[in-house]
This record gives sequence, structure tokens and C-alpha cells, in this order.
Amino acid sequence: MPGKRAEAGGASSKLIGILKEDHNHFAVLLDALDRQADLFADGEAVDYELLETGISYLRAYAHAVHHPLEEAILERLSERAADDGLVGRELSLQHERLEDSLKLLQSAFHDAGEDQSTLRQPLAEALHRMVSDMRAHNVWEEANFFPAAGRALGAQDWAQLSTGAEGQAVPAARPLDPRFSNLLQQLGCSVSADGE
Ligand SMILES: [Fe+2]
Ligand SMILES: [Fe+2]
Repeated sequence: MPGKRAEAGGASSKLIGILKEDHNHFAVLLDALDRQADLFADGEAVDYELLETGISYLRAYAHAVHHPLEEAILERLSERAADDGLVGRELSLQHERLEDSLKLLQSAFHDAGEDQSTLRQPLAEALHRMVSDMRAHNVWEEANFFPAAGRALGAQDWAQLSTGAEGQAVPAARPLDPRFSNLLQQLGCSVSADGE
């Protein structure tokens, strides 16, 4: 039914659009964190505020809001029996791996404490690993997961996911914490006050 498909496509593209916009923001931040990792490895001065706020953003938003939304979409796919399991398993594995990378990174900073001058190499490696994992993950989702969701879910699925009908965190997650939107704006991202 062309009308219904167009309606589903519109709702789908809105929610997928939010996720892709997040990916664009993540990409800018990951580039900045990658540069800080290079500075660490080279023994140069690093921007600790950027590192702290950037990593907090990844934990508080990417891990706690963005990924759960993707998991909610995946759950819908599974309910519709539209996923043969491979995409879902891969998505969950990648989210777990990213969580491990972030934890490793945070504990590397914690272990370094005041002694970051002598532990630059492990910090640089932990940062590079997290950046590399997250970049690959976002590329994989845009090539595999988002298209699969766009093909399989209908207008009602997207409407419920968008409006938070099932406890979804999307509406409450926007606007971003000002600390994070300020950081993204400083890095050149376009982040409006209402998060739209
Ligand atoms: Fe994800
Ligand atoms: Fe994502």
C-alpha cells in the first residue's frame, strides 16, 4: 500500500535521522579524541577537559541513550521476525564491545591518576581502541542495521518508538545536557537548543 509505506518511511526516516545525526556528532568527537590520543602518545600537552567531557558524553548519551534506542528498534525487528538473528547478535556484540572499550578507557585514566605522564602509552592505546571500535560500529550500523530496520518496520512501530510509548528514552534525551551540547558546538557541530 503506497500511502502506508510512505507514512512508515517518513516516521522511519525521522528516527533514523536522529540516530544518523548522533553518528555525525560522534564522528566529530571521535576525530577530536583521536587527536588527543596522538598527543598523548607523542608526549604533548592534552586537553583534559575535552577528554573528560567527551568520554562522559559517550557514556551518558551514546551508551545510555543512543544504544538503548537501537536496541529497542532491534527488539521490534525480532518481534516482527524480520531479523534472522545475525544482525541482532552482531549489534548486541558490538554494543558490548564498545561498553568494554569505554570501561577500559575510564579505568586507564583512573589507574593513571596523577601519574599520566608515565602512563601515556596505555592511555593513548585505550583511546585509539575505543575510537576505532566506535567508528567501525557506526559504519556497520548505517550499512546494515538501519536499512534492515527501514525495510522491515511499519508506521505503527516507528510511531511507538518515536513517542516513547514503550518507555523509550528518546524524547527525554533531548535537549542534550548543556555541557555536552557546548562541547559539540565548540567542535563545530550544529546543535540547536531544543535538540531538533
Ligand atoms: Fe549502536
Ligand atoms: Fe548507532
